[in-house]
Amino acid sequence: MTTPSPTAAVESLLAFWADAGVDGLLLDEPVDRIEAGRIAPPQAPVRKVAPPVLQTPARSQPELSGAVAEAQARAAEASDLEALAAAIAAFDGCALKFEGAARQSVFARGRPDAPVMVIGEGPGAEEDAKGLPFVGRAGQLLDRMLAAAGISERVLITNTVFWRPPGNRTPTTAEQTICAPFLERAIALVQPKLLLLVGGASAKAMLKREEGILSLRGRWFEWRSGDGGLEVPALPTLHPAFLLRQPAAKKRAWLDLLTLTERLDRPERRS
Ligand code: URA
Repeated sequence: MTTPSPTAAVESLLAFWADAGVDGLLLDEPVDRIEAGRIAPPQAPVRKVAPPVLQTPARSQPELSGAVAEAQARAAEASDLEALAAAIAAFDGCALKFEGAARQSVFARGRPDAPVMVIGEGPGAEEDAKGLPFVGRAGQLLDRMLAAAGISERVLITNTVFWRPPGNRTPTTAEQTICAPFLERAIALVQPKLLLLVGGASAKAMLKREEGILSLRGRWFEWRSGDGGLEVPALPTLHPAFLLRQPAAKKRAWLDLLTLTERLDRPERRS
């Protein structure tokens, strides 16, 4: 495994906290700013550091719509998940393919007729290397959680984008929008009973909501396809990468899984 650069590590940590809904930092002790203002701080030598490139340059609206239209056309032609994986691999409309991915597209693993689709954020380095989603440390924790909930054999696991974002940054809305037709087609082919949305970047993109994951998690929402033809109940939960750093939050993720399995095994009401 390669060691991430300090910049990438800091970006990833900040993205992770933002994802968790953190929007401010507090010191342990209060600071008297009035008093502090009277004492001139020592002048540190000014060192200019070029800002890291965090985002793919924004695409113009016609470029974005063209890429989405092409993704829709390619996705519509896929009559099963294998064909869909091939369509994704052949698609050049998402910049991540050329900027982030070192090796390949990463689509899905699990049962093609799964009653639960687990949708994460996007592939990382290990996923890029193996061509499968959630196979790194976070993925191994996800697998243990699904096994503990007794649903390992009842899931299909995928992501909102199908190529690794550079430095593991959060995918942009444009990147998620371009990949969405493929994800929608996957949902249409699998016909899951429920969606488990893993992490803030997945929950926000799928549900078109602005709240942080700590507020969205554990509540049921209705996911709707772009054309409104498909609706699936969706439950946001905490990302396993977050749980690796905040083990105390595992309890909340476990409650979410219980919420999921209770609905999964609830007998359908006859009308
Ligand atoms: N994190 C994700 O959101 N997806 C993966 O596939 C791996 C890590």
